[in-house]
Amino acid sequence: MSHARPSFPGAAALHVAVIMDGNGRWAAAHGWPRNAGHVAGAAATRRTVESARRLGLGTLTLYAFSSDNWQRPDPEVAALMRLFREYLASETARCIENGIRLSVIGRRDRLTVGLREAIETAEAATAGCAAMRLRVAVDYSARDSIARAARLFAQEPATPFERALGEACHDGGPVAPVDLLIRTGGERRLSDFLLWECAYAELWFTEQMWPDFGETDLEAALAEFERRERRFGRVSEAQAPTGTGGGA
Ligand code: FPP
Repeated sequence: MSHARPSFPGAAALHVAVIMDGNGRWAAAHGWPRNAGHVAGAAATRRTVESARRLGLGTLTLYAFSSDNWQRPDPEVAALMRLFREYLASETARCIENGIRLSVIGRRDRLTVGLREAIETAEAATAGCAAMRLRVAVDYSARDSIARAARLFAQEPATPFERALGEACHDGGPVAPVDLLIRTGGERRLSDFLLWECAYAELWFTEQMWPDFGETDLEAALAEFERRERRFGRVSEAQAPTGTGGGA
């Protein structure tokens, strides 16, 4: 992995989240089983993390397995869980080398002991890294996280809600708002991903299937993001009154 070249102003402050969709269709288009798509998807994940680091992004959150994905056939779920473990084992050293702090968000109680241990090992090993945050969502449901956070909040109302939400989904600290949400695979929906954090996210959709996603796609998404005017409920700067004559 080469050093970061933050070609986007303010890249270090950006939180980009990705719904990595289309592995199955990509595999089917090649006449391969769905799991081959997930293996290719894992390779695309590695490339995208490298690209995000090169581009100098602050936080990258990847949707790897939703709580609803447990409804997939058992062999597919098992293959995905195996891939996650392999990914954690193979990527931890590269994360340390590149200053990437890795954490896994979502529920842990339904994961195997082996995967839980792999997560804890990767998180502990990369805890001191500060150049970029990589968050991988596994057994993640935004609605479930919000409901759990609401219960925590009811017990301790002085806690900021973002912190309760961070605790509910095993994030280290308070959850951060998403600036740009990317979804591959041609669908245009949020699928229970980061619903609170995406309140003012810019949305970018591509027909590209996840295994084909590359650095030029990430750059295209960021370039489009830069062109968007984010108003957060305010009026456009172009329409804001000027020359207030010294008033408020
Ligand atoms: C959605 O595509 C993808 C998933 C549910 C799994 C995501 C997993 C990966 C990208 C690979 C492994 C990830 C890591 C972090 C190692 P789909 O299967 O729903 O595709 P389809 O809509 O074409 O069927």
